[in-house]
Amino acid sequence: MNMHEDWWKQAVVYQVYPRSFRDSNGDGIGDIKGITERMGYLSALGIDAIWLSPFYPSPLVDGGYDVADYRDVDPRLGTLADLDEMIAAAHAADIKVVVDIVPNHTSTEHEWFRAALAAAPGSPERARYIFRHGRGEHGELPPNGWKSTFGGPAWEPVGDGEWYLHLFAVEQADLNWKNPEVHEDFKRTLRFWADRGVDGFRVDVAHALAKDLESRPLEDWPDEPEQGVIDGENPLWDRPEVHEIYREWREVFNEYTPARFAVAEAWVHPDHQWMYASPDELGQVFNFEFSKMDWFADRFRLAIEEGLASAARSHSTTTWVLSNHDLPRHPTRFALPQVPSRVHHQLVNDWLLRDGTTYIEDRELGTRRARAALLMELALPGSVYLYQGEELGLFEVADIPWDALEDPQAQMTAHGDALKGRDGCRVPLPWTADDATGAFGFSIPAEHAAPHLPQPAWFQGFAADAEERDDASMLSFYRRALALRSQLIAATGSTELTWAPDNGGEVIAYERPLADGRTLTSITNFGAAPVSLPEGEVLLASTPLADDTLPQDASVWIAR
Ligand code: NOJ
Ligand code: CA
Repeated sequence: MNMHEDWWKQAVVYQVYPRSFRDSNGDGIGDIKGITERMGYLSALGIDAIWLSPFYPSPLVDGGYDVADYRDVDPRLGTLADLDEMIAAAHAADIKVVVDIVPNHTSTEHEWFRAALAAAPGSPERARYIFRHGRGEHGELPPNGWKSTFGGPAWEPVGDGEWYLHLFAVEQADLNWKNPEVHEDFKRTLRFWADRGVDGFRVDVAHALAKDLESRPLEDWPDEPEQGVIDGENPLWDRPEVHEIYREWREVFNEYTPARFAVAEAWVHPDHQWMYASPDELGQVFNFEFSKMDWFADRFRLAIEEGLASAARSHSTTTWVLSNHDLPRHPTRFALPQVPSRVHHQLVNDWLLRDGTTYIEDRELGTRRARAALLMELALPGSVYLYQGEELGLFEVADIPWDALEDPQAQMTAHGDALKGRDGCRVPLPWTADDATGAFGFSIPAEHAAPHLPQPAWFQGFAADAEERDDASMLSFYRRALALRSQLIAATGSTELTWAPDNGGEVIAYERPLADGRTLTSITNFGAAPVSLPEGEVLLASTPLADDTLPQDASVWIAR
C-alpha cells in the first residue's frame, strides 16, 4: 500500500457536524471559522482527516442535507474564503478534508426545483426531478403508495395534476439520475471541491440514486418494497445501475493526484456493500454493523467478520462506525438494557420518546463499554470514523423538548408512530466547563444567541478543557489510543488480522503486526469471568488492571 496515495485506507476520520461544533461569532450556530479555530484541538486528538457534514446554503429542513446550492457555503456558516482558510489550516496540520455530497435529492429551494415548479409538465426543467401524473381523474391521488423514510407519503402534489417523489422530507426532491444533465452537474460539483483542495467525499444515500420507475406501472409496486434484497428487485434502493454512476465519478477522482476517494453511505445488505467500495467506484463504503450491535461478543465478532469479508471482496479496506449524526450516541446505547438482536434501536427510540425515563441509563457502564469498544475498534485493519463529541464521552441528550427539536423525523412522525429523531446527538459541543457564557464555550463569550439546540446542565462534566487536564478522562484516553494506533498499528500499512482464542465465546481477541516488529494482541472481555493476560507489555488498557487479568467490559492492547 502506498501510504501517501492510499492514506484513506487506514485513516481515522473525525466527523464534524458544523452547526454544532464551534460558533465563532455568537449567533448560536457553529461555523467554518469555528472549525479553523479548533484545528489545534483536532491535531492534538491525533486524527487523519475531518469529514464535514453539509455546510452548503440550505433552508435547514434536514440539518443541511437539503442543499440549495452545491457549490457555495451557507452565509450563516461563513464564506468560500473561510472554507479555503479552513482547508489550508487542516492541511498545515496534516489533516485531510472530506466533504459531504448529497446527490439523491436537492432542497426544494434549489434553483432547479424552483424552475421545475414554474415550468409545465413534460418540460426539461421537470425532467431533472421525478415528476409523475397522479392517479384519479384530475391526478388528485398520488402515483402510488410509496412512503418517505421520515414518515408520510413519498409523493407531493404541485397543483397541476403532477406529483414529485421525495424519499426523505417534502422539501427534499429526488433527482432524476436518468437525465445526463444531472450527471454533468454533479461532476462539476466534485471538481469544484477537488479543485479547492478537498481530499475526499462522503456520498449521502449512495444506494438510492438509480430508480426503476419504468419497468412496470407505478401502482403495481408494493407501498413498501422490501429492503435489503440483493437482486435489483427493489425499485428504489441498491439497484445495479447505481454503480454506473460511481464508475463515472471514479474517472473524475482519477483526474487528481493523489486520486480523490469517496465513502458511500449505503445501508445495504452486508453482502452487497463491497461493490460501492471497489477501486473502479468510490473506494470505500460505511460498514455500519458496529452501530447496530448491542454489547455481545458474538454480535461484534460477526460484524468484524462481515466487514473484513466485504473488504477482501472489494480489494479495499473496510470502515468501522460506532456513532454518527444519525445514531443515538453509543455510550448511551451501551448503557441501556441490551438486546441480542441486530437492530435494537426500537428500545432506544422508546426511551427517547419518554425523555429518557423508560429504562435506567447506567452511565458508568456505558462509559466503561465505550472505552472497551474503542480499543477493539482502533486496532482493526481499515478506517475508523469517529463522530464529534464521542472523544468527550458524551451521552445522548434524551430530553430535548418537542418544540425545540429540529429533525424533520420528529414532525413527520408526530401523528403516527412518533419518533423524537436524531437531535440528541447533535447538541452543540461543550468546550469549557466554566459556563460564564451560557453555552459551555460553544459560542464566543460576548453577547450571543442561545445554541441552536439546548445543552443540558450535565454537559459541564464533559467539557473539553476539563477533560484535557484530566489524565483519566475519555479525551485523554482517545488521544493515547489514537497516537498508538497511528505510530504502531496503522503505520505498518498491513491489513493482516489473526484471531486469538475467544475463551468460550466471551472474548474478542485478535493479533496484528506492529511497526516495531512486535505483535499486538487486542483483547476485549464481554464475560463475567476475568481473562488471564498473555505475557508482554501492556500498551494501553481501557480500565486500570489490578492483577494479571482483564475484567468484564474492558479491553487491553498487549505487545509481544
Ligand atoms: C443520510 C444522512 O446522514 C441523514 O442525516 C439525512 O437525513 C439523509 N441521508 C437524507 O439526506
Ligand atoms: Ca456562528
